[in-house]
Amino acid sequence: LPSILSGAVHFADVSFEREGNPVLNEISFHVDAGKMVGIIGETGSGKTSLLHLIPRLYEKNAGQLFLDEIEIEKMDVKSLRGQISIVPQEVHLFSGTVRENIGWGRETATFDEIIEAARSAQIHEFIDSLPDGYDTEIGQKGIVFSGGQKQRLSIARALVRKPKILLLDDSTSALDAHTEKRLLETLEGLSCTVFIVAQKISSIQKADLILLLHQGEIVAQGAHEELLQNNEYYYNIHHS
Ligand code: GTP
Ligand code: MG
Repeated sequence: LPSILSGAVHFADVSFEREGNPVLNEISFHVDAGKMVGIIGETGSGKTSLLHLIPRLYEKNAGQLFLDEIEIEKMDVKSLRGQISIVPQEVHLFSGTVRENIGWGRETATFDEIIEAARSAQIHEFIDSLPDGYDTEIGQKGIVFSGGQKQRLSIARALVRKPKILLLDDSTSALDAHTEKRLLETLEGLSCTVFIVAQKISSIQKADLILLLHQGEIVAQGAHEELLQNNEYYYNIHHS
């Protein structure tokens, strides 16, 4: 079974339904390895569903989905998921240390790798400032993280697995603009394809490809400047 991914993603007329209701309709786009894709669209437009199709957490109903020109059905699911990290919209931390929370799912990670992931996720300095640092307990017995700190911890957890494809589902919504910018710049420097679902255009306007979803369809796609000039709907969202 083929498994090594460079991270190129190609959707060809992909449709997805839940309990008979259409959720995504004939989604088509292509992104080269190492690029950044921004996804925006109103609540319920299908952003989370689109992300979940890539590691086959959801199964599409029609169309084709290729990673590096290989149809995802032809890949081993375990190996596929081993190379794709998703930061879910709802962050789940468990009782344990910061270090354990970041290393979760990749027990072979060294401490240096955990620190490197935390640095990339812009959370290292905060962790380092805690009296017990990476040994700090999270949860009922320990400290409570803020929304933005949780998001960054969750991103560090995804990065420590060194994915070829990183899926961020509304994972920067609680970050201040400055921290978000630094995070995006760091992610740009990593050799992985990054999908960022966001609520604001400002969060994704630097992306190589922006997908604007509306009721399960891509109503506009392209780079920011191009969309601003050519797409009235996108222009209106940007100026609203
Ligand atoms: P937000 O996260 O709120 O911004 O929405 P989204 O763009 O991520 O939409 P999502 O992909 O979660 O949902 C797309 C469509 O699928 C919506 O019409 C939802 O009502 C529907 N949907 C989501 N979850 C479920 C589910 O568990 N069961 C069913 N039947 N439909 C669902
Ligand atoms: Mg969602």
